[in-house]
Amino acid sequence: MSILTLSPAWRALEAHHEIMRQQSLCNLFAQDTQRFNKFSLQFNNILLDYSKHPINTQTVDLLLSLARQQDLSNAITRMFQGDKVNDTEDRAALHSALRQENSVTVDGFNVMPNIKKVLAKMDQFVTAVQQGKLRGYSGQPFTDVVNIGIGGSNLGPAMVTEALKSYRSHHSLATHFISDIDSTHLSEILQKLNPETTLFIIASKTFTTQETMINARAVQDWFLTHGGTTKDTKNHFIAVSSNPVEAEKFGIHSDNLFEFWDWVGGRYSLWSAIGLPIALAIGMSNFYLLLAGARAMDQHFTTTPLAENLPVMLGLIGIWQINFFGAQSHAILPYDPALRNLPAYLQQLEMESNGKRTDRNGNEVDYMTGAVIWGGQGISSQHSFYQLLHQGTQTISADFLMSCKSHHPANKNHKLLSLAHYFAQTEAMMRGDNGDQKNTQLTTKSSIKQVTESSLKATSPHKIIPGNRPTTSILFKQLDPKTLGALIALYEHKVFVQSVIWNINPFDQWGVELGKKLAGIILTELEESAPVTSHDASTNGLMNYFKLNQ
Ligand code: F6P
Repeated sequence: MSILTLSPAWRALEAHHEIMRQQSLCNLFAQDTQRFNKFSLQFNNILLDYSKHPINTQTVDLLLSLARQQDLSNAITRMFQGDKVNDTEDRAALHSALRQENSVTVDGFNVMPNIKKVLAKMDQFVTAVQQGKLRGYSGQPFTDVVNIGIGGSNLGPAMVTEALKSYRSHHSLATHFISDIDSTHLSEILQKLNPETTLFIIASKTFTTQETMINARAVQDWFLTHGGTTKDTKNHFIAVSSNPVEAEKFGIHSDNLFEFWDWVGGRYSLWSAIGLPIALAIGMSNFYLLLAGARAMDQHFTTTPLAENLPVMLGLIGIWQINFFGAQSHAILPYDPALRNLPAYLQQLEMESNGKRTDRNGNEVDYMTGAVIWGGQGISSQHSFYQLLHQGTQTISADFLMSCKSHHPANKNHKLLSLAHYFAQTEAMMRGDNGDQKNTQLTTKSSIKQVTESSLKATSPHKIIPGNRPTTSILFKQLDPKTLGALIALYEHKVFVQSVIWNINPFDQWGVELGKKLAGIILTELEESAPVTSHDASTNGLMNYFKLNQ
């Protein structure tokens, strides 16, 4: 048994779970009319309602005791002050510094002047592009920007650009994202573009990621074979990286290099120059608002008592579900269509951060860590996978996200209907239905017929919806840059809170390295004509099948 699972706070939660697992959510609401007030929090324009979880005040007290036992407040301070909390890589994790105003030191060095310098360079660049002062090689203003990057160098910018598309102006560049090694997608995008008016951003923290490098070279070739010359690449190719040496080797001019630092994790990097496509799409003033929203959430996270702290409570509710109710899966269900890319973004943020099996002391854990994160747009998903949420056999918790106000007054009816479904679904998941249909009628394609007693008996069990499904609702006024910044920071900090409880490092990702290493070896073998014999029978068989059928 680990120190954590033997600890008094954990044991107390286990004992308490024995009682709470017998409670139904409906009963908990019936017993306490103040439940919503007790178990919801507000910060700025964001309302977090976690009352539809099997908790009572004692649960919250016990979860808070666990947080105190794991020294959460101290861990938060250490991360924000630039301590090397990413110990396996001997680095700080200072994404918060990218949106701060006060000085922060790493190894005795104040990182703020460099952050400000890069922000100013971004500002100058974005303004010059948007105002047409910086132009393509033929003198035409830029119309499009293509971001070439993967993982954190793609998911954050792609999610935010889509979420804030209502904030585009006539100066905005159309944004395109190339991440996978999909030559069809690449050529579909390039076909639509004019090399004379297109900017390319090669976004890679390491500047060695194979997928990004192969796409970057393909795009460079396209540029050079469609009218651009090597000299012209200076106007069109930008790099964002913490590896300036590799970026320059690639041919990026030092003026076009936007730097960030090893203490910014890839999945936490959208606040850095990795956010350049965001700024080109919505303008620098809106990018500053995005940072301000995140800064406000940082302030809230670092100064608010644990019990009233949104990221802390969101994290602890997750712990309750994962470690005590056994929820191995957590769905992200945005009802605002602009947040359609949020599940994919949070998938990397949460799963790459907390998908760990070794604690900070090097011991294998004996408790569950990060859940499987998945999801989809709420309304469409209701017509695909919600059936399993309502009647399936798994324990799945879910976050429902929605904004109150639409950006387009003409969409009032769309908005109201989406909100009706948003509220209905969490209520349905909680209440369920006992399948009693004595007075109900079934609808057939052509007519409505009264059902017989016997057919009612046969279908009734199938109509039972057990309910008691745990959901968290996150409702905010409007999806504006500030609110989005705060929302993303809310999830970043939630992930950190959970990592502290589990005593794992959320800032490394050693697990993804093995596949990269093997792919390098396999690539060489695929290029040779001889049959492959060096792997297991399955891998050999698959590779040889490919060789015969390519
Ligand atoms: O393979 C995982 C990963 O290292 C992520 O952590 C990262 O966001 C992504 O690859 C891309 O890395 P880079 O920005 O260095 O190209």
